[in-house]
Amino acid sequence: GDVGAGEQIFNANCAACHAGGQNVIMPEKTLEKEALDQYLAGGRSEKAIISQVTGGKNAMPAFGGRLSDEEIANVAAYVLASAEAGWE
Ligand code: HEM
Repeated sequence: GDVGAGEQIFNANCAACHAGGQNVIMPEKTLEKEALDQYLAGGRSEKAIISQVTGGKNAMPAFGGRLSDEEIANVAAYVLASAEAGWE
């Protein structure tokens, strides 16, 4: 995925709930490295992020159909790169 394109998609579609890699609805389920390891189904990987973004989970809406597969791959690449970098 294209991290730079993913950042714009994140800001437009995800930041309302996940600004700075946090989670305003379920505070423990952040997008930080350790939280992805602990909570994300399938573990910390681009594939697992793509799966959750496409299908949604509980209070998180599904983006399949609203974003293209390419856009979802790009935003997943951005989330993973940002988690690895500590959301600095
Ligand atoms: C969880 C990404 C949009 C609410 C997550 C997780 C990821 C993620 C990777 C797993 C984090 C973890 O388990 O620690 C994204 C991306 C988005 C997006 C890339 C945009 C395309 C949103 C929006 C909302 C939201 C707009 C609020 C309306 C949540 C909630 C969870 C979550 C509540 C926890 C779900 C659960 O396990 O019950 N998100 N998210 N997300 N997200 Fe999002």
